[in-house]
Amino acid sequence: MPKTVQELLDALTVEEKASLTSGADFWTTKAIERLGISSVMLTDGPHGLRKQAGAADHLGINDSVPATCFPPAVALGSTFDAELAERMGQAIGTEAAIEDVAVVLGPGINIKRSPLCGRNFEYVSEDPIVAGHIGAALVRGIESVGVGTSLKHFAANNQETDRMRVSADIDPRPLHEIYLRAFEHIVTETQPWTVMCSYNRINGVYASQDPWLLTDTLRTAWGFEGLVVSDWGAVSDRVAALAAGLDLEMPYSGGAADAAVVAAVADGSLSSEALDLAVTRIVQLVAKAAQRPAVAGPLDVDAHHALAREVAGRSIVLLKNDGLLPLAPDTSVAVIGEFARSPRFQGGGSSHINPTRVDSVLDALVAVCGDRARFAPGFAFDGSDGETLRSEAVELAAQQDVVVLCVGLPDADESEGFDRTHINLPVGQLELIDAVRKANPNVVVVLSNGSVVALPFRDHIPAIAETWLLGQAGGSATVDVLTGAVNPSGRLTETIPLRLEDTASYGNFPGAVGHVRYGEGIHVGYRWYDNRGFDVAYPFGHGLSYTEFSYGRASVNTDANGDLIVTVPLTNTGDRDGREVVQVYTALDNSVVERAPRELKAFASVAVAAGQSREATITVRRKDLAYWDVRADAFVVEGGEYRLEVGASSRDIRSTTTIAVTGDELHLPLTMESSFGEVLAHPVAGPVVQASLETLAGAGGGLLTDEAMSALLGSFPIGRLINFPGVDIEAGQIEALIKMANSTA
Ligand code: BGC
Repeated sequence: MPKTVQELLDALTVEEKASLTSGADFWTTKAIERLGISSVMLTDGPHGLRKQAGAADHLGINDSVPATCFPPAVALGSTFDAELAERMGQAIGTEAAIEDVAVVLGPGINIKRSPLCGRNFEYVSEDPIVAGHIGAALVRGIESVGVGTSLKHFAANNQETDRMRVSADIDPRPLHEIYLRAFEHIVTETQPWTVMCSYNRINGVYASQDPWLLTDTLRTAWGFEGLVVSDWGAVSDRVAALAAGLDLEMPYSGGAADAAVVAAVADGSLSSEALDLAVTRIVQLVAKAAQRPAVAGPLDVDAHHALAREVAGRSIVLLKNDGLLPLAPDTSVAVIGEFARSPRFQGGGSSHINPTRVDSVLDALVAVCGDRARFAPGFAFDGSDGETLRSEAVELAAQQDVVVLCVGLPDADESEGFDRTHINLPVGQLELIDAVRKANPNVVVVLSNGSVVALPFRDHIPAIAETWLLGQAGGSATVDVLTGAVNPSGRLTETIPLRLEDTASYGNFPGAVGHVRYGEGIHVGYRWYDNRGFDVAYPFGHGLSYTEFSYGRASVNTDANGDLIVTVPLTNTGDRDGREVVQVYTALDNSVVERAPRELKAFASVAVAAGQSREATITVRRKDLAYWDVRADAFVVEGGEYRLEVGASSRDIRSTTTIAVTGDELHLPLTMESSFGEVLAHPVAGPVVQASLETLAGAGGGLLTDEAMSALLGSFPIGRLINFPGVDIEAGQIEALIKMANSTA
């Protein structure tokens, strides 16, 4: 048997190599037994294991082996806690290892560009720093037990509408600063085993066939060493895909593409090196999987359920609380809403997990309150019997002290595969909220939804808890928070707008005739609302606790790497232990480029005991200060006085400090198209030109004293000064200046 990759490559026929570059079936790679290459299984993901034992599909239709359904990314992200995400990842990895799965297809880290995206529940945030940190933690956790991950969907897969064809048309700055940033963070920090390329096109080119994306960016610029697998069915031309940097097409696509690869190598249109590279990465993946340390089953169902409950409790975002929560002991509770009995705890599609058990809010409340908790469904998911169910619920509400009203989006309203067209709760549920609060004002609204919904009732309801889709232990976790057994600490990773019309991509989502234009540029999520000065229902980063935190004065230093070390004293002024999510935003006034008023750069979830103080230390990485410079085609840190805003949400800044940051040196060569202003700013050419201008001014030229004239000249391309009436300058002089400047700088 061959021992090294090279020996394997020498021993494989071209036909065998071509066949290795697609799956054997839905979930496994091909084996070549004569050479000892075994087959490995890749399966969903991301918030639990979906291993299909029987009929396979990628839409979550057929049942899979029971596995713990942990909170989907929408919830996990709200913890803002990388350490917790890593623990959850480790548990998912362990379940995968027990089931002999080599790669879990996740995490999904695409940016929530619009609340309408049907798959937002599978994604972490509207902000790339949050998505990057939480995603990296999941990768570290899963891979810590020797199971691989697949970072997906690379890239710019921000909608479901026409997802297999649409071109995401994005300018370079938003592409790099918003849509690629989290991928870059995770790839450079964790080197995941695999990256999954997305279905869509980016600026006209299919992700699966894009050499700029898969090779220049992912491998050359970021140093990715693992394997690129296609999303299921994303490849339409495997030869082009292999040439671009894809390694494995999934699932099995019939033999035609294998034959096309063999023919392309034969006629030279695909280099044998490109095919060998893909095969190398596939056999390396198989080898890595073979090294996984043994994990003894069976799955510890109880321990993993307990972890799912812990994460779920930490994911809940208490949006509003006029003092109704936590529920007072001995309160009688009207539990209203079908969601209380039939929880919606995960989203539809390929991530659909067959849970080991499911907790409901109703059962969990009854367990705590006994017969002080009484239930009325209030509505049916299919909208039937509206009036009868509503009046029963209103009657019950009037009899109890407090109402826990569980509303949300039914399965049919959001899923992988389609986008929403509005952000409203079903009309029947809105009517129910109204009717119930009139019967009993002490209402806690508990929301179950995979992405934000409009909350037109929020001023009339004393307490609102956003519980997202919480995974299989969500029911008991919700009751942990309602009763105060868990002090809420979740924060919004996506802004809750007042209206869909206020959202950044409104009018540009989901596009038409094969294209979606990312017209809002860098102003995604809170960046948009802040830039426009729009009011929102609840801002990015918001979330309440049952205790209060006061912030001292933030201070900042630079470490040897140029990273900014921010410290802030934090005091828990209440009488309950709690967690504060400290957020650090930066701003740079008078920047050379357009910027959002503030951008999140770092965060930390900090536990502080009741009455205690602690200093939170948070690192803002220098590289995260960078903007994408379209002239240099690179990230550049601009020099200047940065404002660091430290706070409890994007609109609750508690302490501000500043620091002078030295910028990266930008060497942009001068050309005939360089403006007069750019020449003046150039370290070598500038002083030369300045000196001759001063001579002119001394001779009565007046150029420097005339402000209007210098403003006008400032944007004048120097090449066009030649032969300009009244300017006595020759091409040779400018060429000499440019040459001198470019050779010295
Ligand atoms: C989804 C992926 C998933 C794959 C396999 C695709 O439809 O986009 O996220 O991993 O199917 O189920």
